[in-house]
Amino acid sequence: MAVFAKNCPDIEIDVVDINPERIKGWNNNDLTKLPVFEPGLSQIIEEVRGRNLIFSTSVKDSIKKADMVFISVNTPIKEKGIGAGETSDLRWVESCAREISEFAEGHTIVVEKSTLPVKTAQTIKDILFSSNYQKSEKSFSVLSNPEFLAEGTAIKDLEEPDRVLIGGDDQEAMEALKHIYLNWIPPEKLIFTNLWSSELSKLTANAFLAQRISSINSISAICEVTGADVSEVSYAIGKDNRIGSEFLKSGPGFGGSCFKKDILNLVYLAKFYGLNEVADYWRKVVEINSWQQKRVYETIVKKLFGNLADKKIAILGFSFKENTNDTRESPAICICRNLINEGAFLSIHDVKVTQEAIEKSLVNENFDFRNGHNKNAPYWEYQLNLYRAIENSHAVILLTAWDEYKTIDWGSVSLNVKSPFWVFDTRSILDTKNLQDLGLNIWQLGCGNNN
Ligand code: UGA
Repeated sequence: MAVFAKNCPDIEIDVVDINPERIKGWNNNDLTKLPVFEPGLSQIIEEVRGRNLIFSTSVKDSIKKADMVFISVNTPIKEKGIGAGETSDLRWVESCAREISEFAEGHTIVVEKSTLPVKTAQTIKDILFSSNYQKSEKSFSVLSNPEFLAEGTAIKDLEEPDRVLIGGDDQEAMEALKHIYLNWIPPEKLIFTNLWSSELSKLTANAFLAQRISSINSISAICEVTGADVSEVSYAIGKDNRIGSEFLKSGPGFGGSCFKKDILNLVYLAKFYGLNEVADYWRKVVEINSWQQKRVYETIVKKLFGNLADKKIAILGFSFKENTNDTRESPAICICRNLINEGAFLSIHDVKVTQEAIEKSLVNENFDFRNGHNKNAPYWEYQLNLYRAIENSHAVILLTAWDEYKTIDWGSVSLNVKSPFWVFDTRSILDTKNLQDLGLNIWQLGCGNNN
């Protein structure tokens, strides 16, 4: 919405949320403290906040005066009941639809922005059209307008998208939304589809991207045992135009709030229609992802003589990828939990993730941290200083490709660590030769020439 506000100064945009803390965060005068870190975002907020972008908790009043309402709530995987572990929890979408139905006035275009299983627009429609209002007083059109931005590059993705999908069955409403996008996006990038094609295209795009990562990650394991190098393999196959170079970097597994959830939604959809082979096929993409995370952890334990008890290990990076403070589904969570479970003491550093966010991700009632640990001893610490995190450790595990980690002074690091000392580079961003020359052991994911 910040990018909308910047490009459409004549449109007044209210971002409303029922959570006052969140809204307070977005209204913070200190722009370095906005709830979401995204390169370039704070500059835009500075320009548009208070001009034509307002953050508030006045849900009812905003809906009342709106011509168009975007539903942008989270849709996590359902934890209980039918479809638990696979389909999305639609409680927030449903409550939004109910509120819109109650408070809207005149004609309102409702745009589904959250990523949702196919046919959710129908649920929204059913709720909107079923409420107890006089048909003459209000009317609704429902559109699907999925978001293709990726975290870390969100502003650029929104300013110059490859395409914008507008799904619907009301031509006039579709034109109205198109009209807004035309403020900064060329017409050939605006695609009209029916509602279900638009919803399904979003899930499919994420499933295809995730599938490529799981494919290359499966190859990374073959590289390690055969002496091939996964960076060379992905470069070579990425040069084939039909395959292309994007999303072929192997790593500790994909994370983020989207890929796993959206593939699981596809799996659920396939099963619902009795397409069990299709469901199994896509579930495997998620399974390879969990396997890759487990593989990284097992490699670390093996290299450290099968024993992590009382060893200090530095974790570099906790966000699911660089340039974001998001930790949802980050591979770091599973890897760190397993290391703690082995008795290791972790010193965790990240460029943007806060101590509270790490605490929230790591602590889980289903996970017994005390296993293998002295009851009163801490099992992890948060380190703002990268070098303090590494000093006196037995190993460093690089999990997120932050730029800061590319320029670590390994010469000075090597003076103050345990021996033998291991560096596990799961993102293949370090210069292995430099480390080896200093006498440090390095393991790089997907590299067959590991020590
Ligand atoms: C993803 C899609 O890329 C967006 O198009 C989509 O709009 C978004 O989900 C969404 O559904 O909202 P995002 O999850 O922000 O975006 O991040 P990605 O850049 O796709 O990265 C996802 C994960 O894949 C990260 O953990 C990343 O490290 C990993 N990855 C990505 C690789 O391991 N290798 C690659 O080559 C690329």
